Amino acid sequence: MNPTAELLVFRAVRAFDPARGLDAVVDVVVERGRVTAVGAGAGAEPGGAAHARVIEGGGRWLLPAFVDLHVHLREPGHEYKEDIASGLAAAAAGGYAHVCAMPNTRPVNDTRAVTEAMVARAREVGGVALHPIGAITRGLEGRDLTEMGDLQRAGAVGVSDDGRCVSSSLVMRRALEYARGFDLPVIQHCEDHELTAGADMHEGEISARLGLRGWPRVAEDIIVARDLALAGYVGARWHAAHVSTSGAVELLRAAKDRGVRATAEVTPHHLLLTDEAVLGYDTGCKVNPPLREASDVAALRRALADGTLDAIATDHAPHSPLEKDCEISQASPGLIGLELCFGLLLGLVGSDGLTLGRLVDALSTAPARIAGLEPPALVPGALAELTLVAPDERWSPAAGALRSKSRNTPFLHRELRGRVLLTIAGGRVVFDAIG
Ligand code: DOR
Repeated sequence: MNPTAELLVFRAVRAFDPARGLDAVVDVVVERGRVTAVGAGAGAEPGGAAHARVIEGGGRWLLPAFVDLHVHLREPGHEYKEDIASGLAAAAAGGYAHVCAMPNTRPVNDTRAVTEAMVARAREVGGVALHPIGAITRGLEGRDLTEMGDLQRAGAVGVSDDGRCVSSSLVMRRALEYARGFDLPVIQHCEDHELTAGADMHEGEISARLGLRGWPRVAEDIIVARDLALAGYVGARWHAAHVSTSGAVELLRAAKDRGVRATAEVTPHHLLLTDEAVLGYDTGCKVNPPLREASDVAALRRALADGTLDAIATDHAPHSPLEKDCEISQASPGLIGLELCFGLLLGLVGSDGLTLGRLVDALSTAPARIAGLEPPALVPGALAELTLVAPDERWSPAAGALRSKSRNTPFLHRELRGRVLLTIAGGRVVFDAIG
């Protein structure tokens, strides 16, 4: 598909772009891949052209397209779980124009060659833009720093050893000092591996009842505290991946207040589920960091609402039945999320102080800024990167309808509210489900 949006008119649609103070029922015109007009009556006679495609608003919302800071697309190396083509198709269906792909591929993305290969493959596929995240250390081994300048020149927008924590304080200090020179965010997977060895889930009452080894909150909090101290000392940009504990939230809030250049993301599953989901030894709910307790979920929601948690990231982590249809101690951690995120989270608006404006900011503008990308914008002149949603549509994700190659989500067949109907990325229609 991928036709450039030649002449597309959204008529009487709710155009909502909180970063530009826009919330109005207006016409939005997209011509040759750019937004050319936003306003009442703007689409009455679009360029006088008869070939315009007109999409009636009919209660739908047009939003700046989404940006995901944290996905695993598994190419190179694990294409049986996902590849760049299927991952970008899933992203398009989820309303995304940009995704940032983690380096725990095989080979690890710790060199310019791998970064370039990923970018080239994504360009070949077309559609949603892929921005690689390079490794912090060679082979994700936590010792020798990668050539971050090379990675950046090849297209990397950040560095991370995601899946593994940079455990050494000295290595993290050096990584922050080095990345500062390139203004790259250092994205930390906050886990003290000594405290989590052999863990299958959150450490608490449920893990005790199930007889499973637990991953205590403090294993996350220790690294967050240490890294915030280091980031403040070095004056570098530091970003916390998939925050899951109330303690980490408090540490982030205090550090931001004192001016540390820290940012953070939260996933849909940590905002919605608790460790009770693992009752029944459900491998579909095994994820790293693990699902926590209701008090953590409440703290995460409040922190998303007040901006302490800047961005929503899916941590889309595809796994095949080989890694999931087994006993929990053998199962790989991770859930897919790209196609479900918006429908999962829209229902949180109005509770715990979360506004629609903050939700859209956390899905689009805030992550774009963290990755150093031009935020999608609903303003005349901007490259068209837009997501049309039906806010009241109720739907249930069915395994057969997913674009992702993997099915590992506990949300299959759950009723979601809010559906992505059309995505424009880089000026092209990359997903179109308008009947
Ligand atoms: O659950 C997770 N899965 N957490 C991670 O940090 C890595 C990811 C993966 O690559 O599967």
